[in-house]
Amino acid sequence: MRVLVLGGGGREHALAWKLRQAPSVTEVAALPGSEGMAAVATCVAGDPCDAAAVRAAAAAQAADLVVIGPEAPLAAGVSDALRAAGRRVFGPSQGAARLETSKIFAKEFLARHGIPTARFAAVDSMAAAQRALAGFGYPVALKADGLAAGKGVVIAGEEREALATLEAMLSGALVGEAGRRVVIEAGLEGPELSLLALADGERALLLPPARDHKRLREGDQGPNTGGMGAISSDALLPPGWAEALLRLVVEPTLAGMAAEGAPFQGVLYCGLMLTASGPQVLEFNARFGDPEAQAILPRCGGDLAELLLASANGALPEAMPPPLAAAAACVVAAAAGYPAAPRRGDAITGLDTVAPPALLFHAGTRRTAAGWETAGGRVLGVSACAGTLAAARAHCYHAMERIRFRGMQVRRDIGAAPPTAG
Ligand code: AMP
Ligand code: GLY
Repeated sequence: MRVLVLGGGGREHALAWKLRQAPSVTEVAALPGSEGMAAVATCVAGDPCDAAAVRAAAAAQAADLVVIGPEAPLAAGVSDALRAAGRRVFGPSQGAARLETSKIFAKEFLARHGIPTARFAAVDSMAAAQRALAGFGYPVALKADGLAAGKGVVIAGEEREALATLEAMLSGALVGEAGRRVVIEAGLEGPELSLLALADGERALLLPPARDHKRLREGDQGPNTGGMGAISSDALLPPGWAEALLRLVVEPTLAGMAAEGAPFQGVLYCGLMLTASGPQVLEFNARFGDPEAQAILPRCGGDLAELLLASANGALPEAMPPPLAAAAACVVAAAAGYPAAPRRGDAITGLDTVAPPALLFHAGTRRTAAGWETAGGRVLGVSACAGTLAAARAHCYHAMERIRFRGMQVRRDIGAAPPTAG
């Protein structure tokens, strides 16, 4: 199989690395990929949201499968354009990706299909927001409807903060057009879980469960980020919960999308909170999480390309191959100033010291004549699998100790909390 991966971040590096090892794969290309991925994929210049450019690249490579990494090409309809041109694509249609691209669509969908989620109101003006807010206590979650690159959710602790946030979102000041409509949602409490499933339009196979670490600083303090690290371990779910969540959330979502004429093929990412009164859906994504993918994919058994192709063909197998290891972790190193204003151009040293079992995934790096330097908010991630979560995180931190750049931000507590929920 010849595979084309769209995107160029840490998630796509992990996808390309894993696909490269699949027995069925003869060639991996990435558009645009990155210099850090060049060892596992042939990089093709271009914009992954430009359907014509992607179609041409897929044709030039004679790609048997196109794997879409990030959400932006899904939102831009690139999967539909590729399918119309006869390509097999791993990634949902623009219509099915609405589960991620519109939080209002997702919340209304959940309500329509009786899938557990927090009480909410959708608003598009300050007057409506003020009226709706009166029906909620604090904290309250305020969510921009559209894609906002991880900046679209604010948890407000009191009314003044809520009103200021709503004003900033609805006026377009905070996240532009994405904030012109907002979901006001009851604040929930509990451990979070990223439950990802491969979906073929009808059926789903759960991937190993994961947990993101979204806040910038240790102890879940500081601003929200795209994710400062992730763990994957079956111990994240109490016994029997995987089955229960499949029945309660994943299957009704696939059935609902199919019934509404937008069958979902690709990765259905369910962001869940395991509250005292049961699991609740916080959000859907229509793609692998970043950095969850960097913890999940190294654990996955079987031939990833065969699995993704089966999803694209509407013919997933009966079961996931057993995982290769009991646990995995990914620790991210972010640039100085991330997430507000990441600084670029800091020299990175020590990358060549990363050795198995640790794996290096580039996210925002650039190679110059002098060596590697930072070129993005999340710069890189180090992942490792092991027989225990403690051993996996120890491998990651051991490798991370040798990597240095000015202003490097690394959380030391990725996977430090006990994994089991409830
Ligand atoms: P989202 O992008 O919807 O996953 O939201 C980002 C983060 O905000 C989540 O990972 C949670 O930590 C937090 N969050 C979202 N919705 C709620 C809620 N209803 N109550 C409390 N925290 C929330
Ligand atoms: N790590 C969260 C996400 O990919 O949306």
